[in-house]
Amino acid sequence: MIHGIGMDLVEVDRIEDSIRRFGDRFLVRILRPEEIQYCQTQGRPALHVAARFAAKEAASKAFGTGIGAELGWLDLEVVRHPSGKPALVLHASGLEMARLMGVVSVHLTLTHTVATAGATVILEG
Ligand SMILES: CC(C)(COP(=O)(O)OP(=O)(O)OC[C@H]1O[C@@H](n2cnc3c(N)ncnc32)[C@H](O)[C@@H]1OP(=O)(O)O)[C@@H](O)C(=O)NCCC(=O)NCCS
Repeated sequence: MIHGIGMDLVEVDRIEDSIRRFGDRFLVRILRPEEIQYCQTQGRPALHVAARFAAKEAASKAFGTGIGAELGWLDLEVVRHPSGKPALVLHASGLEMARLMGVVSVHLTLTHTVATAGATVILEG
């Protein structure tokens, strides 16, 4: 059973601008340490930060909460399988919300071009 679906698009140059202006303060607010480490080892970090930003907003739409007091940026983590396939790991409020909703599986897909990053999340029970 599908419990929720969410998608989001993010402009990469807006993320690049936030990184330039706020640096680590911005990154640690929205990404967990291993996500930051992955992005920073890529040729254009902002592309991968934008995709993770989109993934978290997409997940927040799938849960129906948005990002805020109920579900925070750091309650969601994008990880990668060795093949490169992404997955969304839930922490703290994310885990609790999934448990209350009966979500047992979270599906994530990411995409990016030079200008835009996008993500879709499906919550399955
Ligand atoms: C829910 C959220 C992700 C929407 O993202 P957005 O960039 O404002 O808007 P988008 O254009 O991507 O999406 C808009 C659509 O999201 C949907 N939406 C809004 N609230 C939603 C919710 N609680 N659950 C599911 N979908 C929601 C609506 O369909 C809306 O379209 P509509 O207004 O035409 O009906 C956003 O409100 C949010 O929580 N963002 C985090 C904000 C933040 O902390 N920014 C700081 C950056 S450091």
